[in-house]
Amino acid sequence: MNDMSGLPAGQKKVFVKTYGCQMNVYDSTRMEEILAGQGYVRTEQPNDADLVILNTCHIREKAAEKVYSELGLLRRMKDERRAQGAEMVIAVAGCVAQAEGEEIIARAKTVDLVFGPQTFHRLPDYLARHRQTGAPVVETEFPADEKFAELAVRKAVGNQVAAFLTVQEGCDKFCTFCVVPYTRGAEFSRPVAQVLSEARALAAAGVSEVTLLGQNVNAYRGAGASGGETSLAGLVSELSRIDGIERIRYMTSHPRDMSDDLIEAHAANGKLMPYLHLPVQAGSDRVLKAMNRGHTADDYLKLIARVRAARPDMAMSGDFIVGFPGESDAEFEDTIAVAKAVGYAAAYSFKYSPRPGTPAAELARQVPEEVKSERLQRLQALIIEQQQAFNRSCLGRTLPVLIEKPGRHDGQMIGRSPYLQSVNLKISGNKRGKIVPVAITGVGPNSLSGQYVEADSLLSQRNGERDL
Ligand code: 5AD
Ligand code: SF4
Repeated sequence: MNDMSGLPAGQKKVFVKTYGCQMNVYDSTRMEEILAGQGYVRTEQPNDADLVILNTCHIREKAAEKVYSELGLLRRMKDERRAQGAEMVIAVAGCVAQAEGEEIIARAKTVDLVFGPQTFHRLPDYLARHRQTGAPVVETEFPADEKFAELAVRKAVGNQVAAFLTVQEGCDKFCTFCVVPYTRGAEFSRPVAQVLSEARALAAAGVSEVTLLGQNVNAYRGAGASGGETSLAGLVSELSRIDGIERIRYMTSHPRDMSDDLIEAHAANGKLMPYLHLPVQAGSDRVLKAMNRGHTADDYLKLIARVRAARPDMAMSGDFIVGFPGESDAEFEDTIAVAKAVGYAAAYSFKYSPRPGTPAAELARQVPEEVKSERLQRLQALIIEQQQAFNRSCLGRTLPVLIEKPGRHDGQMIGRSPYLQSVNLKISGNKRGKIVPVAITGVGPNSLSGQYVEADSLLSQRNGERDL
């Protein structure tokens, strides 16, 4: 029997808005999977939703304020729905929920559920409790490792060719600017068997590329299938034996955890893609120390030299913060020098913004806003230049491209190069999910274009090979 919404009776709609990093994207997908088991279907329209979830991020400036203003809009929608006899349960999840807790209910009475990233698997229980009592439910504890154990094996992943897979969470590094150790908790690695079974389910659903996620993914130390601990390199090696998984990526890595076996895996394992996101944050050793990074600029550059010795075509990516408290002009020049020495294929740069509760927020000598803006502009201009130079260096090469989705024009598809660039091409037949050789003929600001090379002569070439 259908109700007026056109949905089968008992079916409800959920709208999820995701902020921030890939891990939140992964968490949102898992929440949708849990809710699918409770009869919820996705909607892209918040005003049409019985349940709205804001999966929040706390890393940017004014993150909490942005959530509160979003909640103001939602309150109006909730009132309108109520006037029509429908309900809207509003949930705040993610890192702002973890950091603010009860404060959210105090400031935004419209909110029904507040839960952090470690307890979203209990969502059906929160909904039931809320339904029974009508009272808000707030859960911000850190129950060590129960979440992943309780998440069901993945069933539906939509129509994806590439998927995220969280293997590690949390951080013990305590960089002085960062909230992650407080919002995501201590480092925790999922056991190998659990990761493998999730990857097999993804492969069975048609996924060929997995990106292993973790705040400190290269610190991965998961319980091995036959006892002992497995490193990220060991995990990659086991994953690469799964039929259907053709490409493996991982992010984000910390320079301190870039172990020899992982560097070696880049030389030895053709399924491990030549793209490494390795944030340095700053180029001055004094600033790096004040950030509690545990490495110098020189350590970082030497590390990259070793990585490139193992995999000469490695595309480097990173994160930078400009205007950390006390950063002088000369110290900022050190950051520019590191960026120049590396030559990034991509990089993200941010103005330092104080996060309450972190040590750097208490430091005197905060850098004026105009200075931060100027520095950011200079760094970003350099990075864009480097990115374009990297893209241009692909011209004339034939790259293995994973075909992901239809492009804007008829007959056009969009795929991904080993270096994570988008590639536009014309290709007939259904090649979604296939890795095909593409001769790169054009370079745009953020993507490449090319031509599918059909020649049988390429049959001998393997995915990820350096000189295709
Ligand atoms: N201010 C500015 N940028 C930050 N990041 C983390 N915390 C802050 C902060 N307080 C940046 C770092 C990190 C990325 C995810 O966000 O560069 O690597
Ligand atoms: Fe934050 Fe530093 Fe941990 Fe990265 S390594 S999550 S920047 S504390």
